[in-house]
Amino acid sequence: MTRVLSCIQPTGDVHLGNFLGALRPWVEGQHEKDAFHGIVDLHALTITEQPDVVGQATLRLGAVLFAVGLDPDVATVFVQSHVTEHSQLGWIMECQVSFGELSRMTQFKDKASKREHEFISAGLFTYPALQAADILLYDTDEVPVGEDQRQHVEITRDIAIRFNHRFGDTFVLPKAVMPKAGARVMDLQDPSSKMSKSAGSDTGLISLMEDPADIMKKFKRAVTDSETEVRYDREAKPGVSNLLEILSACTGEAPQDLATRYTQYGPLKTDTGEAVVELLRPIQARYNELMADRGELQALLRKGAGKAREVAAATLERAQAHLGLLPA
Ligand code: AMP
Ligand code: TRP
Repeated sequence: MTRVLSCIQPTGDVHLGNFLGALRPWVEGQHEKDAFHGIVDLHALTITEQPDVVGQATLRLGAVLFAVGLDPDVATVFVQSHVTEHSQLGWIMECQVSFGELSRMTQFKDKASKREHEFISAGLFTYPALQAADILLYDTDEVPVGEDQRQHVEITRDIAIRFNHRFGDTFVLPKAVMPKAGARVMDLQDPSSKMSKSAGSDTGLISLMEDPADIMKKFKRAVTDSETEVRYDREAKPGVSNLLEILSACTGEAPQDLATRYTQYGPLKTDTGEAVVELLRPIQARYNELMADRGELQALLRKGAGKAREVAAATLERAQAHLGLLPA
C-alpha cells in the first residue's frame, strides 16, 4: 500500500481554511493509502521561545485531528517529539546536506527576512534537514504538499539519493504529490487573500472552535461587492464566490448551482453561516469531549507514536548501520 505522510505545525488555532483545504481531505484519504500524520512540534520550536505554548497547541491540534475524523485505528497520528528518532535522524540529515543547499531554501529566506530584527535560530536554517528526517523515517512514497513545500520535498529526495549513493541503499525516495483537492477558503473581509492566521485581524477568519453566534456575525459582515447579482465568478466577484464555495463545501452541491437559488446577498450569507455552524457542530462537540478527557486524548497520541516508532526505529537503525556507527 502506498505510504503517505502529511504533517502540520502546532502554531495557532486551526481555521476553516485548514479544515476544508487540508484536514478534511486527509480524513477522506485515510482508507485509500497508509496514512501517517505528524504534529510537528519540533518544527514549531524554530520560531518560538515558548515551548509551553507549543505543548498546549500540540494537545489542541491532536484533539482537532481526531475530532474531524482521523481514526486512530486507521491512520497513524503522532506527535513528532514523541518519536525521538526524528531528532536522531535529523542530525544525520544535517550532516548530509550542505550549507549552500540550505541557503537556497526560499522558505528560510522568506522567514528570516521577516524576522530581520528578531532572533533567527539555527533551527530555522536547518529545518529542511529535520523535515527530510520526518519524511525518510517512514519510507514515505508520497508527500502531498502545496507549492511552498515542494522545494523541501525536492531537497529530501536529493539527500536520500546522496545518502543511498554514499552508504548503500537505505531510504525510499519520496515524491511530492498534489494534495487531494480541498476547497480554497478566502478571508471573509478580504476575499482576495487566503483565510490565514497571519492576517492582520481575525474578523475575516473562522476558527474551527468558534462560537456559533460569532460565526454567524462574521458571515453576516462578510465583504461582497456593490452589485446585487449572485453569480459564481472568482475573478469578478471574489466575496460572493467565496461564500458560494464555502456553502458548496458544506452541502456538496456545485457553487454554480447554488448561485441560481439566490437573488440577494443577505440570505446567501445567512445560509452559508448556518451551514458552517452545522458542519462544525459535531466536530466541536467531539473536540470538547476529547479536551475534557486529557488522559484519553494523550493515550490516543501515545498509540500513534507507538505505531510511528515501529517504522521509524527500523529506518534509523538501518541508516546508522549503513553509516557504520558503532552499535551500542
Ligand atoms: P498553514 O497553517 O498555512 O501552514 O496551513 C496548513 C494546511 O492548511 C496546508 O495544507 C494549507 O494548504 C491549508 N490551508 C491553509 N489556509 C487555507 C485556506 N485559506 N484555504 C484552504 N486551505 C488552506
Ligand atoms: N514544513 C511543513 C510546513 O511548513 C511542515 C512539515 C514538517 C512537513 N515536516 C513535514 C510537511 C514532513 C510534510 C512532510 O507546512
